Amino acid sequence: MRTRLWPWVTFGVAVALGFAILQLFSSSLGRTSIFVRADYAYLVSRRAKPSMTTGLPFPKNWGAYSPAYPRAEYSVPRGCKVSMANILERHGARFPTSGASKRIKAAISKMQAVPEWKDPALNFIKSFVYDLGSDTLLPFGARQSYDGGVQAAQRYKHLGTPFARASGSERVVHSALNWTAGYVKASGIPLPPPLEVSEDDGFNTTLDDSMCPNAESSDAQTTVWQDTFAPRVIARLQSLAEPPNSLALTNVDLPNLMSFCAFHTLASASFGSEPTTSPWCALWTAADTAKFEYWMDLDKYYGTGYGNELGPVQGIGYVNELLARLTRTPVVDNTSTNRTLDSDPETFPLDRELYVDFSHDNQMIPILAALGVLHQDQPHAMDPSRFDLHRTWVASQMVPFAGRVVVEKLSCNGHQEVVRLLVNEKITQLPEPCPRASNGLCSLKTFVRSQSFARGGSPNEWARCVATPSAR
Ligand SMILES: *[C@@H]1O[C@H](CO)[C@@H](O)[C@H](O)[C@H]1NC(C)=O
Ligand SMILES: *[C@@H]1O[C@H](CO)[C@@H](O)[C@H](O)[C@H]1NC(C)=O
Ligand SMILES: *[C@@H]1O[C@H](CO)[C@@H](O)[C@H](O)[C@H]1NC(C)=O
Repeated sequence: MRTRLWPWVTFGVAVALGFAILQLFSSSLGRTSIFVRADYAYLVSRRAKPSMTTGLPFPKNWGAYSPAYPRAEYSVPRGCKVSMANILERHGARFPTSGASKRIKAAISKMQAVPEWKDPALNFIKSFVYDLGSDTLLPFGARQSYDGGVQAAQRYKHLGTPFARASGSERVVHSALNWTAGYVKASGIPLPPPLEVSEDDGFNTTLDDSMCPNAESSDAQTTVWQDTFAPRVIARLQSLAEPPNSLALTNVDLPNLMSFCAFHTLASASFGSEPTTSPWCALWTAADTAKFEYWMDLDKYYGTGYGNELGPVQGIGYVNELLARLTRTPVVDNTSTNRTLDSDPETFPLDRELYVDFSHDNQMIPILAALGVLHQDQPHAMDPSRFDLHRTWVASQMVPFAGRVVVEKLSCNGHQEVVRLLVNEKITQLPEPCPRASNGLCSLKTFVRSQSFARGGSPNEWARCVATPSAR
């Protein structure tokens, strides 16, 4: 009996060992493969798991500081051919804005003021030197945009020369130029530089959220949430500080310090090389990261999204431009469009089949809201005092760095114009009366009807956006 059992025991042990080694190997692979180009034109794999399940600080949980990743496999429905595409793309990954840089540096110096840390993983802090730029596009972001252009050429080259616009800040213009370089390289079609649309005060624009100065910020909601989740996280860091209570971090510092994991990681890559995870990421558990992500989601929801009563109205101008392109008729809009630009075929042509616009997260959010898509449909979600894992409003899925919102016009079985909306490749349900359909297709006529909010112009809300508040 014994002698016959042994080979099995040995076999079992061998299998267990092999499995353990495989696990080790695959988890280390998991760590390094986050940024490997498993999906074309995206630097983050669709298959990289979010941190709630892996316990790793994966870049999918960084809200609007996440790099774009494809949320589905792209395909054109059988019998259909794309006849027009309108791409709205966020600039690629950037340095922190100058405002955020100051806040991040302030939080870092509080960490550096702690004489000693009990956890050796935090030893790097003392000698850390902050050397990031601010506001401008990162090499990683330039590559995201370049790859986006290559991908667009592979997908839409048959649509000919794209008409490109960029909102007039350096990182957006550089994204557009890198995208153009990628498009030219992959298609062989020469392109003029994109049209720059000014973001300066006094200029109408549909590509920047600069036209509604009276809209409230999201500060009220994000403050509630940071006061809810930050104290326990800070207490944990405090318990690692030596001497005890030598850490002066406050609630408002925490989201800034946490965002630095994203910025420092993405800044570590040069054009063509992969980023390495910043040591600052090691400060946070998966649960911390999830709470930070909720902070980011609240920021976008109440900043210019559905949670702000003057949010969706800011996207109306762009939607009316989109409708003009899809129907090849002049723009009808009384909100943020620039009539001079939009009535000139040089600056707003209606005869193209491929359009691409480069913008910001805070403007793409109201455009999605004006379209009436991606509603937060979980009751009680986006409560600033209560984390909700089941919310459907997730900024990293909508407006990550280099995130893409694409409206395609297709002709199916040789006739009938239909449209569909892809948000980071995922087919997105269009509002009623568009049908509920897994292929997302809606006839152009019905889609135009579904856009009654934008076509109506929401004149009362728009008036509140731009009205000069009465002096007190
Ligand atoms: C791409 O973006 C970078 C900024 O990161 C910029 O320096 C470079 O000029 C851009 N490339 C092109 C082709 O414009
Ligand atoms: C519209 O754009 C043109 C060209 O850039 C500019 O001269 C004009 O001031 C803009 N008008 C408004 C209202 O923004
Ligand atoms: C725009 O304003 C004009 C005149 O003020 C008005 O006739 C028209 O209905 C408005 N259109 C939209 C879409 O708001």
